[in-house]
Amino acid sequence: MSEVIIRPDASHEDIVPQLHALIEDSDPPLTVMANVASLLYWSMEGINWIGFYLFDGRVLRLGPFHGKPACSEIAPGKGVCGTAFAENRMVNVPDVADFPGHIACDAASRSELVVPLLVGSEIRGVLDVDSPVHNRFGIADERLFRTAVDLLTEHFAKWEGRIFPS
Ligand code: SME
Repeated sequence: MSEVIIRPDASHEDIVPQLHALIEDSDPPLTVMANVASLLYWSMEGINWIGFYLFDGRVLRLGPFHGKPACSEIAPGKGVCGTAFAENRMVNVPDVADFPGHIACDAASRSELVVPLLVGSEIRGVLDVDSPVHNRFGIADERLFRTAVDLLTEHFAKWEGRIFPS
């Protein structure tokens, strides 16, 4: 694996090259997603959970993540993740108490950002980030997480879209 230096207060400019370094062509998608979740969790302050939910054709299933154990499945349209998935859009929730149907996996979470995960142009899951801080995620964070999922989409193309092991 390429050398990755983790700093808990890394700037976004420091994180992007580390993402590139982690996303190696020879590593299958689930492996890369696990490392991406770890890198972002350990490089950013004020995050208590980050991970992927992957669509299996029926529900979103918990994929690689960092943080406390979480809901193992989420139906499309339910919660913040299911809403982002069903509507294929980024959802930034400054206060989860104000989001009808928010699913509380960790009672400490106060704000949340969910980014669609695409294979080609098809939505196949989401990247979910939780924070114990109210209104934690700004435009720069949205850009960083979008960069992360864009790099993953490029990587999935090399694996012919197979994000589940086969
Ligand atoms: N809060 C999410 C559920 C997943 S956990 O945050 C890990 C939601 O409302 O979809």
